Formats: sequence, structure tokens, C-alpha cells
Amino acid sequence: MSPSSIPSSPNNLRICCIGAGYVGGPTMAMIAKQCPEIHVTVVDLNQSRIDQWNSDVLPIYEPGLKEVVEQARGRNLTFSTDVEGGIRSSDMIFISVNTPTKTHGMGAGRAANLEFVEKCARRIAECSVGHKIVVEKSTLPVRTAEAVKRILKSAPNGATFDVLSNPEFLAEGTAIADLLAPDRVLIGGESASAIERLAQVYERWIPREKILTTNLWSSELSKLTANAFLAQRVSSINAISALCEATGADVDEVAKAIGTDSRIGPKFLKASVGFGGSCFQKDILNLVYLCEHFGLADVARYWEQVVVMNDYQKKRFSTNIVRTLFHTVSDKQIAIWGFAFKKDTNDTRESAAIYVCRDLLEEGARLVIYDPRVSEKQIRNDLLHVFKDQSLEVSARHRQLIEKNVTVVSDAYQASNQAHAIAVMTEWDEFKQLDMHRVHQNMQQPAFLFDGRNILPAEKLASIGFEVHGIGRSSTLPS
Ligand code: NAD
Ligand code: UDX
Repeated sequence: MSPSSIPSSPNNLRICCIGAGYVGGPTMAMIAKQCPEIHVTVVDLNQSRIDQWNSDVLPIYEPGLKEVVEQARGRNLTFSTDVEGGIRSSDMIFISVNTPTKTHGMGAGRAANLEFVEKCARRIAECSVGHKIVVEKSTLPVRTAEAVKRILKSAPNGATFDVLSNPEFLAEGTAIADLLAPDRVLIGGESASAIERLAQVYERWIPREKILTTNLWSSELSKLTANAFLAQRVSSINAISALCEATGADVDEVAKAIGTDSRIGPKFLKASVGFGGSCFQKDILNLVYLCEHFGLADVARYWEQVVVMNDYQKKRFSTNIVRTLFHTVSDKQIAIWGFAFKKDTNDTRESAAIYVCRDLLEEGARLVIYDPRVSEKQIRNDLLHVFKDQSLEVSARHRQLIEKNVTVVSDAYQASNQAHAIAVMTEWDEFKQLDMHRVHQNMQQPAFLFDGRNILPAEKLASIGFEVHGIGRSSTLPS
């Protein structure tokens, strides 16, 4: 390592980010916007993704992202498939590739698949000359930096490296706001000068006291822990939602009552059909795997329960639909309002909607699905994927179910036209603006509404004639 050769100012810094996904794209666009003198190149192997980043229709939907990208693209922000060129010409290289749960081999279903991270490290080692700072932006198991460092040490051209951990805490749907004013930026590392170099980039728009520095392993573990704690809150309130339904308590009232306790706080207490997204489940399972690896079986079981509870919540929702619709949904039409895992994103990874749709299709329901941002192609891909068996095949029966019993439409009215029931899966704001009289008139009677997000006014809907079933509260019969 030659930290003395690192200039202390971010001027002239050239950054490359490997991985143009939900994290790499927005984070690099924000750095480029805030630091016009830093040249930022985002590289990816996926040509069509890069083409989209270079077009008017970005590959991801995120409020405010387009404006940020347009401000910097062509000035100091470049999207490219030239991974080698990006690495060569940069002083600082972020690794922001996907780290999905392993689907086969050792640790399948729990451990993170580090194949893509390792490939990046090898590519960086091969292409680098001089000194580079390598920044782990992907969420990684503790001590991954050790492996990255070992791979980088084998660099054939005598290049030297500092490795930092700089996990990303943005949430989808609010990524731009989160990047603009994060609660904190976390930088873990061993080289004080490398940490300082990265801190100086963020310092351009984030107060210094919000930039926390730790050792590498604390930084890696803090990211997994943050997601585990957040998901645990959702599973905790969802567990209570089941008890509310059994006792006549209202989960939103309970959440408000406990959330006003400053020690608990009001955030992440919204009961739902279950958490989704590419991070929570993956990162908790990764934590579980790590605990098992270190012989901490009881700790592993404790965290695993957060995911078990989430699966229970999704299943409870689909079971409730079948039971309420007189124990059969066979050949009944169910409108699915929302398919994304939360509002303001087109991301469907691990969305509760996928699992609820799977269960309803298995019961013979006909689904008419509407989401304002998710494409029909994505919805069909997700449903095919969820029906894959252990050898990753989809049976002819399941293919046929998806072809025949799934229709994707372009508005919520169309989805509910002639439906026996509506299932609200995503809390899109537009669902709150609909003319529910019109929706009710065009449905089969009795008209059922299952609000998996508790966003619609149950009493008002009951006065229109709906039978409303929310999460964690008594059902409301037509008045
Ligand atoms: P993503 O799948 O959207 O993007 C990853 C990109 O990396 C893909 O476009 C893929 O083509 C590319 N890639 C993979 N291997 C490559 C290689 N060898 N060379 C070049 N490109 C390669 O993933 P994401 O959602 O952006 O997540 C990235 C990481 O950030 C993950 O570790 C995730 O856990 C973490 N994270 C995600 C979020 C989130 O909200 N999505 C938030 C915080 C942290
Ligand atoms: C999460 C973390 O919040 C973020 O810090 C990290 O960087 C990535 O993972 P994300 O998955 O994008 O972000 O969205 P988040 O807002 O955390 O929601 C995750 C899931 O939990 C969604 O399905 C959401 O609908 C659900 N949720 C969230 C609830 O059901 N109730 C809540 O109170 C909060």
C-alpha cells in the first residue's frame, strides 16, 4: 500500500462503480451531481441496462432520479459496459453488484452468493496499475473484505490497494431523498488516508458529524444488523396484527400507542401483508448463516424467526381471502392492486404480491393485476419464477395457469371490473384517489376488499357496500 501517494483533496478524483443497479445507479448519480469536478463512470456487463441508463427511460423508477441523472450525465457521469476501461482510469472503485441468496451448493437458501463480488475483485486486480481504493458498496457478510484484499494482493501489474466498506442504507422509493440527506454515512477501513479520501467526497453535501468511521468488520456487520432490526420491527407488528384480529384490537391504534413512546419511535410499525424487497430477507438469512457458521445456533434461530413470521403473514393473507370467499376462489376473479414490493418503485423482488398471487392461482383464481410501474413482462417473469420446482423447472400446469388465469391491465378500474374481490398489495397513493362507488358498481356482489396495506377507509367503503378485511383489525361489513 502507498497511502502517502493518495492526494488529500477530492479534486481530480476519478470514480468507477461496478454495477448499475438500484444502488450503483442512484448513488453514483448523486455523487456526480454533488461533485461536478469528480468524473464518475458506472459500468455494468448488462448492455441493455446501460443502454437504458443512457436513454430517456431509466431502468429503474425512483422519484427524482431522472432529474439527478440528467443534471450530471454527459457532464461528469458516464454509463458504460467497458468495465476494464472504467477500472483502469479510476482512483476509487466501488463494487455495487448484486449479492443474492445462494440457490445451490453450500449454504443454499441462506448464504450470500459472492460470485459477482469475487469476479469484480479479480477483474480489478487484473486491470489495475498504480494505487486504487476499492470500496465495498454491496451488502456483504462480515469479513468479505479479507477475501477481497487477498484477491487484490495477487494483482499481476504491481498495483496496490486500500479496501473500504461503505454500505448503502438507501430505501427504494425514497432513494434520492435518502442519498441527499442520509441519517449517516458509514465508512469502515484500515487506512486512515483512504477513509479520509472517501469521507471528503461525501462531505461535499453531508455534514461531517454524520460520516461515521469504524473498522472494516463493524461496518460490514452494521449493514446486516440495520436491516435485521428494521425487518424485525415489521415482523413484530405483523405478529401483533394476528392477535389484533383475534381480539378486536386495531393494529394501527396499537402501533400509534406504542410508537409515541420515544424509546420505541413511530417508524416501521405499519402492519402489512409482509415485507418484501431484495434486502430484508436476503440479509437476515445471511446473518443467520453467519451465526451458524460461528457456532451461534441460538442467535441464528432468533433472527430466522423474523423471516418465518413474514412468511406466515403472507400465507395468512391469501388463506383469509380463500376462507372469506366461501372457501373457494376457483374461477373467481380477483383484482390485484399493486405488484411492487412497496410504493414508488418498479422493483418486485420478494414482493408479497408474488406469493399471494401464487397461492391464489394454485386455488384456481383468475387474477387481473394492475401496478402503475411494473411491466407485464416483469409480472409474468416473477410468477413463472415462483412456480419453479427444485430443479428450477416450471411444470406445464403452472405455465398454463399463468397464461390462462393471469391478465395484466393498465388501470385499477379495469382490474376490478367484474371482480369478486380486490386485494390491495402495494400502498400506491393513486389507490386512495379512486372513485370507489364506481369500483363497487362494476364488481360481482357481494364485493370483498382485502386491504393488505390498511390504506383505504374501511368504514367509508362499508357504507358504499364493500365487505372490508384489513390487516390487524376486525372486518367491516357493508352498512
Ligand atoms: P441490482 O441487481 O439492481 O444491480 C446489480 C448490477 O450488478 C446488475 O446490473 C448486474 O448486471 C451487475 N453486475 C453483476 N456482476 C457484475 C460484474 N462482474 N461486472 C459488472 N457488473 C456486474 O442490485 P442492487 O439492488 O443495486 O444491489 C446491489 C448491492 O447493494 C447488493 O449487495 C444489495 O444487497 C445492496 N443494497 C441494495 C439496496 C436496494 O435498495 N436495492 C439498498 C442497500 C444495499
Ligand atoms: C431496506 C432498508 O430500509 C434500507 O435501509 C436498506 O438500504 C435496503 O433495505 P427497502 O427494502 O428498499 O429498504 O424498503 P423499506 O422501506 O425498508 O421496506 C421494506 C419492506 O418492508 C417493504 O415491503 C415495505 O412495504 C415493508 N414495510 C416497511 C412494512 O410492511 N411496514 C413498515 O412499517 C415498513
